[in-house]
Amino acid sequence: MNQKTVQQMAIARGAQPAQFVFKNVSVINVYSGEIIVQDVAIEGDKIIAVGQCSGLEELDCTGKYLCPGLIDSHLHLESTMVHPSQLVEQASLTGTTTFIVDPHEAGNVAGKAGINFMLDATRDVTGNVYVMVPSCVPASQYDDSGAVLLAADLADYLNNERVLGLGELMSSDEIVAGDAVMHDKIELFRHKVLDGHAGSYDDKKLNAYRFSGVETDHECTTYYDALRELRCGMYVHIREGSATRNLDAIVEGIVENDLATNRFTFCTDDKHISEIIERGHISYNVRRAIELGISPVKAIQMATINAATCYGLKHLGGISPGCQADLILLSDLASFAIEKVYFKGRPIVPSDRLVTTDIAPSLLNSINLAPVEVADIQLAVDGDFPVINVIDGQILTAKSVERVPQKNGFFVADSTFNKVVVFERHKATGKVGVGVLKNYGIKSGAIASTVSHDSHNLIVVGDNDADILACVEKIKEISGGYCIASGGKVLEAVPLEIMGLMSNQDYRIVEQKVSHTLEIAKQLGVNENIDPLITMSFLALTVIPEIRIIPRGVFEVGVCNE
Ligand SMILES: [Fe+2]
Repeated sequence: MNQKTVQQMAIARGAQPAQFVFKNVSVINVYSGEIIVQDVAIEGDKIIAVGQCSGLEELDCTGKYLCPGLIDSHLHLESTMVHPSQLVEQASLTGTTTFIVDPHEAGNVAGKAGINFMLDATRDVTGNVYVMVPSCVPASQYDDSGAVLLAADLADYLNNERVLGLGELMSSDEIVAGDAVMHDKIELFRHKVLDGHAGSYDDKKLNAYRFSGVETDHECTTYYDALRELRCGMYVHIREGSATRNLDAIVEGIVENDLATNRFTFCTDDKHISEIIERGHISYNVRRAIELGISPVKAIQMATINAATCYGLKHLGGISPGCQADLILLSDLASFAIEKVYFKGRPIVPSDRLVTTDIAPSLLNSINLAPVEVADIQLAVDGDFPVINVIDGQILTAKSVERVPQKNGFFVADSTFNKVVVFERHKATGKVGVGVLKNYGIKSGAIASTVSHDSHNLIVVGDNDADILACVEKIKEISGGYCIASGGKVLEAVPLEIMGLMSNQDYRIVEQKVSHTLEIAKQLGVNENIDPLITMSFLALTVIPEIRIIPRGVFEVGVCNE
């Protein structure tokens, strides 16, 4: 036994004072479900004793509460569009000290280099960041993504202590059908955690999916689906993010039916930094669950020990000797009023420092487009043509077959029938898919994005070719991101130079530029009932019904049309 351990044992048994002690604090004991007034002693980054303790420094916490730091059981850091450290800092100030992330977007653009960047960029931050390696790169066999990750590639991560398992297994049909590629990955990670992506599978499919070893799901939108998965032995991560809000529906059902909560956790999936600052992160989930009738202790258990148990994080999620000292001091329990957040025993304070990471040039120059000419974006139409219809407020699309405006056998876009173009942008293959888009509504302009799930190719929507091509040029110039053009001139551009997904700038600058882009989009007539950028970013996603556009052309989901 080394000297340090000898001294730590002396402090743990009370023979020596600890560095710091929270005195007379109401401790939320997530193991027993009790609230007990006692002392909590901290030494270095660990909780060393709980009970009656003395310290070199003591803080009287009479009337206050102490709970473990919160855990987000599933999120994608790329969706913040900034360096991952910025989300971690802002979310940690609101009580989240552990983040279980799936770098699915980075993996689809840059493969292992992308995943490694996300690991590196979150090493020296104010939170524990663990990674679930992306299981579906590419998302489907029809995608032209920047990388293909097979079991042999993912094997490199097996012994990484920050990798907890395999990220959301979206290709459920393949898994249920016994597809060898997916099952090789599952076999490799069988002794770790396999994250799911289910939602509302019928009972037979759910059985097969669960039998494959999938243990968690964050896609439940109803209490009924959550209950079915719970009965099937899964953990349900209750999601409340910027894009998708499922908490009320599930928690109301839990309260109404007095259901056991030990297999429920909280996650955000995707949450914007401005919303985190305004409303909280996982702290919002805790508050809202309490408002809906869950007891504060249970809500805290869902946000801490349940997720720690699910992912085998024995040193996190509770207040007990040996746990990492990630703690929240609360001035009020019912309203979950946070006074201070501690990470590894130290209070988290806002910093103005932008964490920078050495970024490989290949990640900063990820736009690799073949030369584009006006001839490449022409669409031959002969009679009726399949049209992609945007649905208000949804990422689903609907197919219609109709006569579109045309001249000399080619489609002529207008403000009703926009042109949508997807350019393969990873390997300069020159693949360009052109389609017709309705209910988007841009007039006298074009808008472009390299955030385009899941392959993140370049997508552009416009009503004229000049503005579409102006956007393509600008996207090349800024190494990826968003831009909007009208009259052949680019009116705003948001560089997302890290893989075409994230910016190295301060999130406030990025958010301000994104807001300006959205404002211009509305001025150019884009449908008021959609988010112009989010809607566009899902038009190329081959796993969501009904009709999509990919670099290979118009794609009908569920219909093999290669
Ligand atoms: Fe997700």
